[in-house]
Parts: sequence; structure tokens; C-alpha cells
Amino acid sequence: MAPQDAVLGWDDDTTAEVYAAFTRAFPMYGATSRDLAHRAALSDADLVIDLCGGAGATAHAILERVPRDAAVLSLDSSTAMQRVGRRTLIDIRLSWITTSAENLAAHVPTASADAVVCNSAIWKTDTTAVFAAVRHILRPGGRFVFNVGGGFAGVRHPDEQSTRTGPSLNTLIHEIAARDYGYTPPPAGTSSPKLPAETIAHRLAEAGLTVLAMDVTAQHSTMAEKKAWLSIPVFARPADGFTHAQRMQILDAAYALTTPETPTITSWLVVVAQRPGGSP
Ligand SMILES: C[S@@+](CC[C@H](N)C(=O)[O-])C[C@H]1O[C@@H](n2cnc3c(N)ncnc32)[C@H](O)[C@@H]1O
Repeated sequence: MAPQDAVLGWDDDTTAEVYAAFTRAFPMYGATSRDLAHRAALSDADLVIDLCGGAGATAHAILERVPRDAAVLSLDSSTAMQRVGRRTLIDIRLSWITTSAENLAAHVPTASADAVVCNSAIWKTDTTAVFAAVRHILRPGGRFVFNVGGGFAGVRHPDEQSTRTGPSLNTLIHEIAARDYGYTPPPAGTSSPKLPAETIAHRLAEAGLTVLAMDVTAQHSTMAEKKAWLSIPVFARPADGFTHAQRMQILDAAYALTTPETPTITSWLVVVAQRPGGSP
């Protein structure tokens, strides 16, 4: 079975609507998108690619930073996500292309893009193919900026450990699912990171891209935001063997054991790479 947040799970109208509503109501995707757009140095950009742009939270942050005559292309393989984006984010500089990230070079002229920005998605793609395509369409000196969830990259910001005040919502979900449904959670600590920093560095180098920075950042949030995030169908837990209604029942029971304002921390690995040559 495909992983729950594999691309097929995104091409669903309910997920797209609930996801987009989440990005408007809570800071997570807006804040991470603004961070990446800032690092991409967009003030003189003519062409910027929003890779795996979904419903447009990242395109919105890019549009805030590019010149008035720039062009922004938002690429995503989910029609449902882009349907929401086309309806809610209207800007003459922005175009939507429904295609996979791996297919980027078929839609963007060679060496034409000033920057490629990818928020909260790169680990869902074939990074070897995507990095090569990004190198192909970036102009010399152009930047490729993306982030990887801490769990997928195998990194943890020190704040994540020091702020922990009790069991995570995920842990409580597993406990409730075990208690009420006989669920057996996967043994803790057995899965290895899907896209470690060393693998990223190696694949970027193979593609001919230079790493300018790899930073571990901390996103400060609350249990209430975490609960809203876990209500998005594609992210709801446990992953397999439950209906969405059952997952929401388990989530409500788990959340009832927490306090909404309890701080939570999400770690990110943030990568800035560049095509060598040209002006920075
Ligand atoms: C968490 S959303 C991020 C969307 C947007 N960047 C944001 O910050 O709101 C992940 C997106 O990645 C897209 N995606 C996943 N794998 C993809 C692939 N191989 N090619 C293109 N899009 C992909 C999904 O369709 C989904 O819209």
C-alpha cells in the first residue's frame, strides 16, 4: 500500500479544502513558506518555481517577495489541491501547472529560473530526478530552497527536546487506538529517516548543485494546531486500517487528555542550494 501522504492521497477534494483551510487558520505552512521565500533571495527574480505548491500557501509567500513584473509557476501533481489554489489565490503573476515535480524540466525552459522553492514536500518526490531537473532549469547562480520535516531528515532542534511537557498527540493517539481498537503501534525507534541530511547533500552534489546552508529550525506551535493538522485526512492517524471517522474519534479522545495551549515544537531541516556560476 502506498504511504498515506503519497501523492494519490492529495488528489482528493476534502483533503484539499481542509488543508487549505488549515493553512489560512494556523501559521505552520505560511511561516515555513515565508522562511523559504526569504532564503531564496527573490527581490530581483524574473521567474520563480513553487515546486509541489499545493493550494498556494508557498506561492503566496513568494508573491510577497518578487517584483511586480515577475512570473511565478506553481507546480503540483494534485488537481484537487490546485483547484482550491486557482479559486483562492488570484494574482496576474501566478500560473498553475498540474504535473509531477519529476517532470519539471518539461515545463520550464532550460536555465531560466531564478529560484525553485519547495515547502513541506520534497521527501515525497524522487529526489534524484527532481534535483537533476532543478539543476537543469535554474539559471547559473539561481537558488533551490526546500525543507524536510525533522523526522524524515533525522534531525531534531534542541528546543524540541527541552519544550516537551508531556506525551505527544501522536503517542496519545496510539495509546487510545490500542485501548479502544486493539491497535498495535509500530515499535518505537525502528524506522530510519527517509531522507537524511547526508543523502540530500550527496544527491545535490551529484546533480551539480552547491549547498550554501543546511539549518535545523524549530517551529513553535500549540496542541490545538497539532490537532487541526491531524484532522486533515491525508495526515490523520493511525495510518492504516481505520476509517476517517474512527481516526477523528481517536483524535478527539487523545486531544481531551491534553491542554490546547500546550506548546509543541516541530523541527525542520532547511536547505539552500545553488547552481554554480553567474551572479548569486
Ligand atoms: C504538504 S503539501 C505542501 C503544499 C505547499 N507547498 C504548502 O506549503 O502549502 C504537499 C504537496 O506536495 C504535492 N506532491 C507530493 N508529491 C509530489 C510530486 N511528486 N510532484 C508534485 N507534487 C507532489 C502534493 O500534491 C501536495 O499538494
